[in-house]
Amino acid sequence: MAARDSPLRSDLQSSPDGSSPLNVDSAVVSPNNVQLGEVTVTSAQPESNHFVVVAIDFGTTYSGYAFSFTRDPDNVHMMKKWEGGDPGVQNQKTPTIVLLDPERRFHSLGFTARDSYHDLDPKEANKWFYFDKFKMELHDDRSLSRDSLLSAANGQQVPAMEIFSHALGYFRDHALRELSDLAGGALVTEHDVRWVITVPAIWSHPAKQFMRTAAYMAGLADPNSPEQLLIALEPEAAAIYCRKLRRHQLVSGNNPVLRHTHSPYTRPVSSPSGSWPHHYRANNSAECRSDPTEANESGVKKGVSPRPYSTINASAYKKTMADSFQEPDDVLDISENEVSILQTSCASETVSDWLVQESEGLRFHVIYSSIAQHLSKIRHSVPDLSLVIKCIIIADTVYMVVDCGGGTVDITVHQMTDTKAGHLKELHKATGGPYGSTGVDKEFEKLLEKIFTAEFMTAFKQQRPAAFVDLMVAFESRKRNASPHRSNPLNIALPFSFIDMFKKFRGKDVESAVRKHGTGLGVQWSSQGMLRVSQETMRGLFQDTLDNIQQVNLTGIFNFSQFEHKNVLEFNVSIESVLSLLEREASTGNSSALQYLFLVGGFSESELLQQHIRDAFSHRVTVVIPQGMGLAILRGAVQFGLDPAVVTVRRSRLTYGVGVLNRFQDGVHPAEKRVFAAGADWCADVLDVFVRVDESVAVGDVVSRSYTPATLGQSTVVLHLYATHETKAMVSRKISGDVHFVSDAGVERVGTLLLDLKDTWEKPSTDEEFQSPDARPAKVCCCSRRDEAFHGDGTDAGNCSVCGSFSSKSETRKSKNISTSQISSARREISVHLKFGGTEVKASAVDHVTGKCVRASFDFLSL
Ligand SMILES: Nc1ncnc2c1ncn2[C@@H]1O[C@H](COP(=O)(O)OP(=O)(O)OP(=O)(O)O)[C@@H](O)[C@H]1O
Ligand SMILES: [Mg+2]
Repeated sequence: MAARDSPLRSDLQSSPDGSSPLNVDSAVVSPNNVQLGEVTVTSAQPESNHFVVVAIDFGTTYSGYAFSFTRDPDNVHMMKKWEGGDPGVQNQKTPTIVLLDPERRFHSLGFTARDSYHDLDPKEANKWFYFDKFKMELHDDRSLSRDSLLSAANGQQVPAMEIFSHALGYFRDHALRELSDLAGGALVTEHDVRWVITVPAIWSHPAKQFMRTAAYMAGLADPNSPEQLLIALEPEAAAIYCRKLRRHQLVSGNNPVLRHTHSPYTRPVSSPSGSWPHHYRANNSAECRSDPTEANESGVKKGVSPRPYSTINASAYKKTMADSFQEPDDVLDISENEVSILQTSCASETVSDWLVQESEGLRFHVIYSSIAQHLSKIRHSVPDLSLVIKCIIIADTVYMVVDCGGGTVDITVHQMTDTKAGHLKELHKATGGPYGSTGVDKEFEKLLEKIFTAEFMTAFKQQRPAAFVDLMVAFESRKRNASPHRSNPLNIALPFSFIDMFKKFRGKDVESAVRKHGTGLGVQWSSQGMLRVSQETMRGLFQDTLDNIQQVNLTGIFNFSQFEHKNVLEFNVSIESVLSLLEREASTGNSSALQYLFLVGGFSESELLQQHIRDAFSHRVTVVIPQGMGLAILRGAVQFGLDPAVVTVRRSRLTYGVGVLNRFQDGVHPAEKRVFAAGADWCADVLDVFVRVDESVAVGDVVSRSYTPATLGQSTVVLHLYATHETKAMVSRKISGDVHFVSDAGVERVGTLLLDLKDTWEKPSTDEEFQSPDARPAKVCCCSRRDEAFHGDGTDAGNCSVCGSFSSKSETRKSKNISTSQISSARREISVHLKFGGTEVKASAVDHVTGKCVRASFDFLSL
């Protein structure tokens, strides 16, 4: 039979318990009964009675947690400070590093793990299992499963699930301990907590499910209370955080007073654009002072207070406010006269003090508070400070959030739909790519390979893993100092074991290698015995990553032909392509124009990145950099945990559906798809689409389908879920109307939908009764052909099971006492309700005949 070799046939599965094989042919599929927003599916989940939300930001490079009590949702508490740290690097999270002892028991996480590993004797270290930057493995692994392995630094492999659950378990314990301490010793347990784990928005369903499974293993919730654990999308969490941002919470680039004060005293000598000199920036002040390479830069000596901020130009200030926010009326109005009085009354020492405040936000706020204070004296009334502390996001504002992390850069676009409730709707499906800051680290490694050879670097990594970590830590602080405004080279100390091993390995010293191969690459050997990397070379290490974030070489995100050779589920999209699309839509009046582009995530601290994005996009959209951008995801994730319905509408990242049989129609369906069964012709492999790529799906929307098992006593139904990017090329390949096939290029099997029918079925007393009254292997319900529709056991005769409301039918049946014989004389029909509006795909199901709940679950890890 034609269907034998078709992908549909590959759908044939044995049920896990070894009972009757599942036959997708047996599933009666009703293709047209999509009931968006109509069906209320009652959840079988017990109500959660948590009083605190703990969000874990599981980053590629750094991780941490934050929490908030449900009775005090406005206060988000960051985790206690981590022990350890790196010279010249300020971190509010801890490195995502896990260390297991030689017996493969969990030893430590974070700085402690790194330092403990570092302190081990090299031979001993080789027996330990050290895992660093392992999160991206979930993104990269196309065949991710529960059994996927991770390679430790010693080359040995350990189940990835084990490592992720160790890491999550560590955060769980840490958070519960901290909460218990706060509760004055009263024990806070995991049941008191709603857990939120963040994942990149571009992660696949397998990766999300993997995270959830690891969390269950770690004792954060369990499969019986899945609602106790939420998966949050990183840029979405940031968007949730940004929606409440106020103007005084922006960093200096958006700070109109600082940015546009063209005083000869305030502009650094080497700063081309009047941006604030680096050593005035409180966030980095500590590292600057300890940095020998910073001497003489910008002409201001270390430790000397900057020249006071002594000029406030009212019109420049107003103009800047207007430029930044396009709302000149919102600007706090200061007259020229008031400005001159302020200049006198704001003593230079006071202003100088403002500039060395601990955090930029505080500094900015203090400036305003002080100005306000002085103004109130001048005016004899308090100026309307609400203008400057006003929310940036107002009703209907459309804004993009670009989360630049260590591993990925994620992009989302949201619109504020309800300012009072703070509700958002997603306007563009979440996109992005693996363009995080670790790309810069990789470029640095490549640079070292060019100078010291790839063979040596590989051997060094393998034989001196702890020293390699040291080297990368040294690079990390230099990387963070890379700036578009500096010209002095950056010194990177090479570990002693690097120098020593290189001599043994190559028979010459590093200095001669650097002289021979480094000079042309902008790398020199300093007299202090360090690599001296020119700013130009350092900027070069960033270039590819920055270009990728800005614009991959795409002409349009829906141009499939360019990607036909690629796996379609691996599309990576840049800011440019999303922005262009939004501009096109806005120009045709289809949507409101994009107003802001928020840069968040740790990598957004990079001045090179900030400058690059501003240069590329600030003429098209207002680029906004919130202070504390590295923790935006964590804070937003907590807010999401407090109100999971905050994003009311999302866009589907892919088109999803299952493979079904449809009545064969001549001229519509291709001949090679024709199969003959049960006295009729069927078209095999039809992709029954549940939701389309970029389609808006509200959180409560439900897609319903009904399926009929092949036999009445069947205990499980397994349906394969397919996904695809719907692209122009695919659309042109449509045979007619809306027909796609699971065998189309670009359609991939991504998971299974498992319906567990065991508890919903009572086995009839006789074998005779157990036989399905209808031996036909399949019926396909089709609204346009009501005569084909299945009419159940007679109680609903006349109602098309396609068009009828399953929920109401289920309720009717529930209220009836249906005997076994009645059931046996019926075909079983399972109503499945699918939700695509959340951060994960969810399913629930009801046995139509018995009215009992059927356990329905997606499995993306068993392909
Ligand atoms: N000033 C800076 N310049 C360059 N890179 C920086 C700077 N500050 C932080 N980073 C980089 O940002 C990354 C940390 O950011 P973040 O904590 O947001 O990432 P993550 O959560 O670990 O990664 P992801 O979200 O991709 O999983 C690190 O790779 C770090 O090197
Ligand atoms: Mg992150």
